[in-house]
Formats: sequence, C-alpha cells, structure tokens
Amino acid sequence: MFDFVFHNPTKIVFGRKQEETIGQEIKNAGYRKVLFVYGRNSIKRSGLFERITASLKKHDISYVEFGGVVSNPIISHTRKGVDLAKKEKVDAVLAVGGGSVLDESKAIAVGTLSDNDVWDFFIGKEVTQALPLFTVITLAATGSEMNGNAVVTNEETKQKYNISSLHVYPRVSILNPELTCTVPLDYSAFGAVDAIAHVIEGYFTRKEGAGLQDRLVESIIKTVIATNNVIMHEPTNYDARSEFMWTATLALNGLTTAGLKEYCFPNHMIEHSLSAIYNIAHGAGLAIIMPAWMKWYSNKKPARFERFADKIFGVQDAEAGINELEKWFSSIHAPTRLKDAHIPADKIDMIAENAASLAKLWGIDDVYSKEVIAEILHHAV
Ligand code: NZQ
Ligand code: ZN
Repeated sequence: MFDFVFHNPTKIVFGRKQEETIGQEIKNAGYRKVLFVYGRNSIKRSGLFERITASLKKHDISYVEFGGVVSNPIISHTRKGVDLAKKEKVDAVLAVGGGSVLDESKAIAVGTLSDNDVWDFFIGKEVTQALPLFTVITLAATGSEMNGNAVVTNEETKQKYNISSLHVYPRVSILNPELTCTVPLDYSAFGAVDAIAHVIEGYFTRKEGAGLQDRLVESIIKTVIATNNVIMHEPTNYDARSEFMWTATLALNGLTTAGLKEYCFPNHMIEHSLSAIYNIAHGAGLAIIMPAWMKWYSNKKPARFERFADKIFGVQDAEAGINELEKWFSSIHAPTRLKDAHIPADKIDMIAENAASLAKLWGIDDVYSKEVIAEILHHAV
C-alpha cells in the first residue's frame, strides 16, 4: 500500500425527504444568499423546485435562480452563471440536479471569485478559491456530490476538460434516493456504466495496489450490476435506488484509489472526446469505449483481467470476462459500438486527435498517442 492523503471534506446527508433540510444546512454554515443552479425541467416537473425554495424561505436564505444547465454542460452558459453570481453578490452556490448541474455549479463557484475567464481553470490555471457549494443531487452516476471534479465542454473548440481541486468539493451534499426514481431508464443505465468505469480505471491501470482496493472495487461493480438489474424492471424500488446511489458516490470519492500508485483514466480521456464532439451521454460513451479499451489492454495485464472475469462474472478467461461486461451493458440497453450511437467509423482519426490533446493535458500521452487511441477506437467498430 502506498502512502496517501485522503481528505474528503463533504458532509453527506442521506435519506428520504432530506432535501427539506437544505435551508437549515446553508444557514448553519453561515450563508445568506445563494445562486440556485438547476437544469432544464426535471426539478420543476417533479415538484422538487418548490420544496427547495420552501426550505430556503423558511430559513431566510435569499436566492437568485439560474436554470438551463444542459447535460454535458457548456462554457458559454457557465460564463453567464459567473456574471450573474458576481452581479448579485451571492455568498454561496446551491446546485440541484444531476452531475451536469453540479459540475457547472463548481465552475461558477470558481469563476465568481476570479477576474480570469473561467475556462482558464480548465486549461491549467490553478484553482485557489471558490464560493462554497451545497448540492442536492437527483441522478446517481458521477460522484460529483463528493468529489472535487467539474467537467465542462468548450463548445467552440470541442474540448471537454475538467477542473480538479479541493476547493470545489461540496460543503454539504444531500442524497435522497427517492429523487432518483424518476430518472429515465436510459440515464439510469448510463449512470450504472459510469460508476463501473470510475472504479475499473484504477483497478486495471494501477502499478501496484493492495487486496483491500481490489475487493472494494469488485464489491462496487457487483453492487452496481445487482441494483441496476432491479432498477431496470422496478424503477421506483427504494432499496435498489438507495444502494446504487451510495455505491455511485463511493466509486469516485477517492476511496478506491487511496493507496494506489500510477493509475490513470484512459477510458474517460477517450469518452470525453466522444461527448465533446457528438454530445452523447457520458455513460453511453463509456459503454462503447470500455469494452474496446479492455480488448486492447487485456494482454498487457492478463492476470488482472482473469481475476476480473472470475470475481465479477465467474468465468475463467479474460476475453470471456470482457464479453460478459459488454453483454451486461447491452442488457441494460447501453450502446456498445460506435454505430449504436450513430458515430461513423471514418471519424475515428478526428476523435483520436481530439482525445490526444486531453491525453497530453493529463500527462498520459506517452502511452496514449493519437495512433494508439485510434487503434482502441477500431475495437468499437
Ligand atoms: O436537465 P434536467 O431537466 O434536470 O434533466 C436531466 C438530464 O436531461 C435528467 N435528470 C436528472 N435528474 C433527474 C432527471 N430526470 C428525471 N428525474 C431526475 N431525478 O437527466 C439528464 C442527464 O443529467 P446529467 O446531469 O447530464 O447526467 P449525469 O449525472 O450523468 O452527469 C453527466 C455529466 O457529468 C460529467 C459527465 O462528463 C457529464 O458531463 N462527469 C462528471 C464527473 C465528476 N464531476 O466527477 C465524473 C464523470 O466521469 C463525468 O465525466
Ligand atoms: Zn465518468
């Protein structure tokens, strides 16, 4: 086990109706005026909007509304949020929605305290401060509710890049699994794929690790599969939704990678290009990339892949394990080939070029050159 620092400052409040405590949480933390960020229409349709505003009013928290965050959030809308937060002199940001709403809110929280263009922080400028962030998450997938990542797309340059900073961890995140019962089944499936992707990156790419992390990851993957097998048939099953929700949080809150060394996120690196260029859902892109990357990578770590095949699916060889994973993705109606997402094979070079820029930014371009990325993508044809 390697030395590490694990510092996760987010308070989690988990359970039925807990969104009604959001006003109290913000007041307890000493803030009085928030930028209330949300997506397109799901929180108004479900009545969540009214419950949140009632809680804010009850605790004398004033709010400025900023709706319209799109899935795969974009920098132009983020800039508008920064301008509004500055003009209104809010002292905190409240994000209510899926990972996209949380991520854009994190970027707004950073941009509001800076004279720089907020995109500068996505291309390397160090984050040194941010407004405090409070969240009520409505879709289990990204782990954004308990991590320091924010992913935003620059729609002009087609770059889907991220901020990673201790300053953007939410202060408080409220997780009410009931809220996820209305997530459409396609997005539920994409959330399942995303949570699996978050743990397999470290599991396969790390240089060395310890049995604990392996067993944590295997348990997370098995729980994602078991709970989503239920959710696909019974979308309002509270036990399955709640167990999956916490599992998705743990999949990317630093727990499974603490003590690992030299791991990286190549599946995410390539997927971010797919969703930057084609605006497909992140989990859909991952369901296409993961089996392709595994086929390309498995002979470099045969023992790891044999273990994965055995522990997750009870099959004996690496190839069979990858096939089982792909079959499971298909069983929950996630796409597994580029053509399933209407992405033409003759665009592979262009996608690879886009991904190679991110590989460079992440410092993994020694392995992931444009040619290697194209080779991986050819496994997804
Ligand atoms: O916009 P609304 O109307 O709210 O609709 C959303 C959206 O259309 C809808 N939705 C959310 N909660 C719902 C609901 N519909 C009904 N009932 C509910 N309770 O679902 C759609 C998708 O929402 P979105 O927030 O885009 O999904 P997700 O949570 O999967 O977030 C995806 C984004 O997060 C990034 C992805 O790249 C992508 O941009 N990621 C963020 C990470 C992080 N911060 O750590 C890590 C991930 O690897 C990922 O990159
Ligand atoms: Zn992801």
